[in-house]
Amino acid sequence: MKFFADTAEIDEIKDLAATGLLDGVTTNPSLIAKSGRDFMEVTKEICGITDGPVSAEVVALDHATMMKEADKLRAIAETVCIKVPLTIDGLKTCKALTEDGTMVNVTLCFSANQALLAAKAGASFISPFVGRHDDNGTNGMELIEDIRLIYDNYGFETEILVASVRHVTHVLESARIGADVMTAPPKVIKSLFNHVLTEKGIAGFLADWEKTGQSIL
Ligand code: G3P
Repeated sequence: MKFFADTAEIDEIKDLAATGLLDGVTTNPSLIAKSGRDFMEVTKEICGITDGPVSAEVVALDHATMMKEADKLRAIAETVCIKVPLTIDGLKTCKALTEDGTMVNVTLCFSANQALLAAKAGASFISPFVGRHDDNGTNGMELIEDIRLIYDNYGFETEILVASVRHVTHVLESARIGADVMTAPPKVIKSLFNHVLTEKGIAGFLADWEKTGQSIL
């Protein structure tokens, strides 16, 4: 399963890239606003950090303007993946861009029917928001299961990119279901390392090593 960082914070992206765990980056208008950076500049900088897909989201609501925005964004780098909302105009834009060889990430997906439409429109990635489902008392991971089943039924090549990931259980369950990608804040990705028994084991090994009075260097 590929790991994308869901952030526009350059230092966090660089830090994660150094671990070898970074397969791409996703941003959205809220994350850009939070970064306080110029959208075009920060997207270009992110493309310089990772060779993987970098999702940059259009903000227009009509197809014609989405295409104009997409043209500007995809000119930044070949690795720019255009993010469009799951609307009629978003899927029109998705179809036009993918037919032109540009990666498209269809975002704000909340139902399996929407995911089916995105795959039929040729989306490179579909971004079902699991955390926001959970916030509303419905099980976001059941959506991922449904999408995986439907995509496998018909051999759709659209990659399931689990988004709105809030904790390590979302990551674990996404891997169990067979999602292709998950995108999460770097702090969630880093917390995958954590286990109290690992920490306890290291402490025990070092305590016993101290008793030997030896050093390796
Ligand atoms: O990529 C979508 C993601 O950023 C949304 O996450 O936590 O705002 O639901 P969240």
